[in-house]
Amino acid sequence: MEQAKWIAAPENFGCCPSFRKQIGIGKKVKKATLRATAMGCYRAMIDGKSITDGVFMPGWTNYKHFVQEQTYDVTAFFDKDSAQLEFLLGDGWACAEMLGWRSKDRPYAQMPSVRATLTLAYADGTKEKIVTDESWEVWTSKILYSELYFGETQDARIVPEKKGNARTVSVKTKVIGQIGEKVVADETVYPRAFIVTPKGERVIDFGQNMAGWVRVRIHGKRGQKISFVPAEILDKDGNFYNENYRQATNLCTYTLSGGEDEFLPVFSFQGFRYIRLDEYPEETVDLGCFSALALHSDLKRTCRFVSGNEKINQLYSNIVWGQLSNYIDVPTDCPQRDERLGWLGDAQVFCRTAAINFDVDRFFHKWMKDLVHDQNEDGSIEGVSPKAGELSTRVSSGWGDALTICPWEIYRAYGDKAILAECLDSMEKWVAYIKNTGDDPYLWNTGGHYGDWLATDAPYGTYVGATDIGLISTAFYAYSVDLVIAAREVLGKDASEYKVLRKKIGEAFAKEYTENGFPKGEPALIGKADKPTCYTQTALALMLHFGLCEEKDRQKLTDALVSLIEQCGGRMSTGFLGTPYILHALSANGRSDVAYDLLFQEKAPSWLFSVNMGATTMWEHWDGIDENGRIWSKDMNSFNHYAYGAVFDWIFGVSAGITPIEAGYKKISICPHPDRRLGFSDIAFETKYGTLRAAWRYTQDSVRYEYEIPSGVEAEISLPNGSHYAVCGGKHVICRPL
Ligand code: BGC
Repeated sequence: MEQAKWIAAPENFGCCPSFRKQIGIGKKVKKATLRATAMGCYRAMIDGKSITDGVFMPGWTNYKHFVQEQTYDVTAFFDKDSAQLEFLLGDGWACAEMLGWRSKDRPYAQMPSVRATLTLAYADGTKEKIVTDESWEVWTSKILYSELYFGETQDARIVPEKKGNARTVSVKTKVIGQIGEKVVADETVYPRAFIVTPKGERVIDFGQNMAGWVRVRIHGKRGQKISFVPAEILDKDGNFYNENYRQATNLCTYTLSGGEDEFLPVFSFQGFRYIRLDEYPEETVDLGCFSALALHSDLKRTCRFVSGNEKINQLYSNIVWGQLSNYIDVPTDCPQRDERLGWLGDAQVFCRTAAINFDVDRFFHKWMKDLVHDQNEDGSIEGVSPKAGELSTRVSSGWGDALTICPWEIYRAYGDKAILAECLDSMEKWVAYIKNTGDDPYLWNTGGHYGDWLATDAPYGTYVGATDIGLISTAFYAYSVDLVIAAREVLGKDASEYKVLRKKIGEAFAKEYTENGFPKGEPALIGKADKPTCYTQTALALMLHFGLCEEKDRQKLTDALVSLIEQCGGRMSTGFLGTPYILHALSANGRSDVAYDLLFQEKAPSWLFSVNMGATTMWEHWDGIDENGRIWSKDMNSFNHYAYGAVFDWIFGVSAGITPIEAGYKKISICPHPDRRLGFSDIAFETKYGTLRAAWRYTQDSVRYEYEIPSGVEAEISLPNGSHYAVCGGKHVICRPL
């Protein structure tokens, strides 16, 4: 039977092309199935009706290695004599004008193409296949321009024209079935306010920063235009501010037909809270014409958390929105500026929190496949996956370690050994790469790294924090080896060789970076450390958390960390690599009180600073806007970067105290660390076995603990006063006097 061919438009005729085929149906159809994929993105339609149940199909992968193909049951459309099958194509990621780097050469293909097979199974038992080939017609469309980063231009007056026939093109990739979750636009956000700024700009505020689309439903005069650009913030004077989008222009321009129009981008999306209307047909803006749709991978929500502190509740909302906005088929850094890339560091930092909030099992399986493919022969990997066109990024500790950390976290959350089995080779290759790089097999003190990215102990305006890069890299090396050991043990493989390696790394670390158990160098205070040092909050947190210290030194290292926090005015000075661990390091060493102090700190750098500044998502910088309204820089200042949202894994794992004893939460430990300042903490967490509810609440003279354990799950509850309870499914209430 004929094989489907990859087909493209004969030439670029200045709009998104559509490919059509009229299908005559002679017999009764029992089942009709459509399989489709594209280089670029496609929307599939039958008789003008979209049948694509996700957006940006076929999804984002490193297309050099593989592309997903979707299967649709389209039987309902074939109960008549004929039907028209149509594919609208956009550049998507495969042919993006911009993907990490603006270049004439598109990252994977110069022009979008599609490949599809429609299988008609007739009631008489026969089958017919209709495949994409040169017989398909190519038509123009109303979408004159659509690019992920640059926005979309639509003209509703256009009547599509036929432009000849498709040509076949050669595409070298592997086509596989859908393995990830589809991207959906399923949450509508309505405008909160219309603002005329001091500069006279007409601005709509949707009240929530997000990734998605602005939908315009309007009935105006034929030829009238609407155009707008997005922003995440207003500046201190209340004017529209979008310089932080850098090259990503995100311009949406729509021309009205004169009838009822609905405009929604098809192959572009924006990260925004506000839009500035640059063209609008009327003097008065009708807010009823506008709504926003949030876009994200279709992930099942698995955690609800509410506490007695409104600011912490807002922080959690910001964390969840940060995840949704950045989980668009791939875990990205931000959804607005000219990046939106699968940055490994951000992904590994947030992975545990991600797997608490939503079911990200399939999502990460898919991304790990790209990661494994993007790993070089020598075991190294650059900072971004799927690898994006010409963009070349550093091989960096803390980023490359996504190769070990993400599979481990996904295993820990879902208990599925398959991800460890699939990734073990890559995990080991990464560790071998580190071992073989530089002169010392037990230290990683060469190469260019991102370091403790955006930490505030270096002078204001620097990207890389003050912590010695070799210390960080060697610490993550040790952690990666720990995870290889753990993965091998889960898979029933011998890990003794790695245990020897881990011991030697620990010894080399101590020799190189510590003296009498203390990190070497001058203590780093916020904004003050003008040269790298080993004596930073991040260094101490990593040493305590990764077990890079002798047991006898734990107390003095914890005291040193607490004292450094005090010297920083009770604030953190940590960046991307220290922040996820600092609260854990404190709590695990008896200082949950200080961990809570940091959680409740309101002066920057702190989590609640951005909450007080009205943030609705996580900021890239602790002080993206400072208390005087100064904007950090236009160069790199996202207001929707989820990395620091990793704090939720401490709220869940330490404050509420829920950790899996057996991966996948079949057996759990509940070891709460309540604090009066939070008032109460109430978590409902969906495990595979049912809903786990874990709550504590301060009353006047007691703390009341309430647990509901899914049936079949064993829980070991340990309360702060030292009492232990081993319980199984069911409801358990314990009251402890203060
Ligand atoms: C991204 C980060 C990323 C980093 C590498 C930035 O431009 O937005 O989140 O991890 O580069 O340091």
